Formats: sequence, structure tokens, C-alpha cells
Amino acid sequence: IKTIGVLTSGGDAPGMNAAIRAVVRTAIARGLKVKGIKKGYQGLLNEEIVDMEAKDVSDIIQRGGTILGTARCLEFKEAEGQKKGAEICKKHGIDGIVVIGGDGSYRGAQALSRLGINTIGLPGTIDLDIACTEYTIGFDTAVNTAMQAIDKVKDTSSSHERCSIIEVMGRNAGYIALWCGIANGAEDILLPEKYDYNEQNIINNIITNRKHGKTHHIIINAEGIGHSTSMARRIEAATGIETRATILGYMQRGGSPTAKDRYYASIMGAYAVDIMLEGKTNRVVGYQHGEFIDFDIEDALQMEKGINDYQFEVSHLLSI
Ligand code: F6P
Repeated sequence: IKTIGVLTSGGDAPGMNAAIRAVVRTAIARGLKVKGIKKGYQGLLNEEIVDMEAKDVSDIIQRGGTILGTARCLEFKEAEGQKKGAEICKKHGIDGIVVIGGDGSYRGAQALSRLGINTIGLPGTIDLDIACTEYTIGFDTAVNTAMQAIDKVKDTSSSHERCSIIEVMGRNAGYIALWCGIANGAEDILLPEKYDYNEQNIINNIITNRKHGKTHHIIINAEGIGHSTSMARRIEAATGIETRATILGYMQRGGSPTAKDRYYASIMGAYAVDIMLEGKTNRVVGYQHGEFIDFDIEDALQMEKGINDYQFEVSHLLSI
């Protein structure tokens, strides 16, 4: 392997820049050339490929977003697009690619690997929904951003003695919602993985809490459940308590990464280059039980992960 490429794909996540920096600098330190591929697989197909030197990644570790840009690319899901991508890699002398993204991005990496381009995936998503790893790049920053925003909503909610429904991101995964539920001391948490809640129970809970003197009632609603605005209208009508919905949205994807996201993304970026140099391909990097490890992409995609029952129970125990 003489030249490697790096790209970010799917939704961006804080810490992706730290990972790009680590890939570029580790590769250069190991005597390789590096090419940055802009806008994910779409940029590969458009040949938006630039040489990268160590100085090109200076002053980015603290920045949110991704300096390479990112995209979700439908064309690359098809065999024809994948073949074209592999040919473009060969034309540019790219022997291997580090793909920073979520599960969807690994399918493309898998295809490239079959076509002779070595690939290593890094888990980049705020959702924490990649089964082979306890850590994903961006989750720590996103959950801290959401937590701080919820604290602010809680202040005004208490002053006005309102109920607040706060919708957090996470596609179909409730990790941000669970963590904020515990970290913000929410009264109720609605998660797609535990979607058996009964709205009447929430209404009863709000009324009971109000009788016990609680001036606020915070409901964290995961994006996968959604409908926060209509839920707020129904709850207000049933309880007679003013209820507002706040959808935090894309603010959770931006901002300067936390120390944890900078640190783990840096180690993972270096690790990806080093295992590629050992001859590995079609692998995804994960973090489990205090170790950085890697898995075959197919095996990783077969794994499942869910919300821990005990942790979910604790969120209820602490919300009385
Ligand atoms: O996967 C990250 C994420 O922010 C999800 O939480 C969310 O559902 C999705 O991306 C939104 O995607 P888009 O940027 O395409 O609107």
C-alpha cells in the first residue's frame, strides 16, 4: 500500500475532523501518500480528490463538521456505481480507503474491498447505533449539546410551570434520549426501542407530579417516535397544564467536539491506517471493554445492540 484515501459519508458528526487528521498524519508518518475524497462516495464518483499533506489538517481537531464534506449517495448503492468508484481509485493510485461513517457507509466499503480496494470503516455517527462498538465518533459531543439545551428549556419550563416535550435526534435509536433522560433528570423518556408507552400513564404522571409540587415536567422524546408537537397539544388538553414542544434538531450534529470525541477519533484514525498496513481490509474499527478492536464488516453488520434494560429502569427510578 502506497497511497490511501479518506472520506466521510452519511450524516456528519463532531470528531470526524479529528479522525481525518489522525488518518492523514499517521499515514504520512508511516511513509504513505494521502488523498482526501470530498463529499463521500458522491465525491469519489465525481473525482473530487485532492492530495493531503500534514499541514492540510492543522487547526481542525477542534472544529465540528467535516472538512471533507459528506453526502448520502444513492448511486454508490448500485453495483455499477461501486465498480466505477473502484476504477476511479485505481486511476488515482488509491490502494485503500478509510471510510468514516455509519452502517450504510460500510456497505460501500465492503463493495470496494471486493473490487480490490482495501477498506477500513470508522464508526462516525451521533446516534451510537453501530452494534460492534460501545463508542461512536460524535455521540459524546451530541449528547452533551442536547443535555445543555435541555437544561435551558428546563429553566424556563419551571419558571412558567409548564410541561416540556423535547425531541432529540437519533433516527431509530434512543441512546441520546436515554442519556439525556438520565443526565437531565427527565420525568419521562420515550424511546423507539421501548415503544410501548401509554400516553394516559404520562398524563397521570404529570398530574400526580404537579400535585406533589413539581413545577416542571420534562419529557424527552426520541426522534424515532416523533410527533412532539401534536403530543404537546393532546397533553395540554388532557391535563390543563401548558405544554410546549421543542425539537432540538441539527444543532446536535454541530459544534466543537468534546475531549472524548477528539481523543477516541484520533486513536481510531491512527488504528485504521495501522491495520490497513498490516494487510487488513473489509474491517470496521470498534471500541469494546477498554480496547480498540476491529471486525469483519459483514460480521459487524449482523450484530445487534439495544437499550440496556437496567439502565432504562434506572431512568424511571430516578424520575419520581
Ligand atoms: O444519523 C445521524 C442523524 O442525525 C440522525 O440522528 C437523523 O435521523 C439523521 O441523521 C438525519 O439525517 P439528514 O441529515 O439526512 O436529515
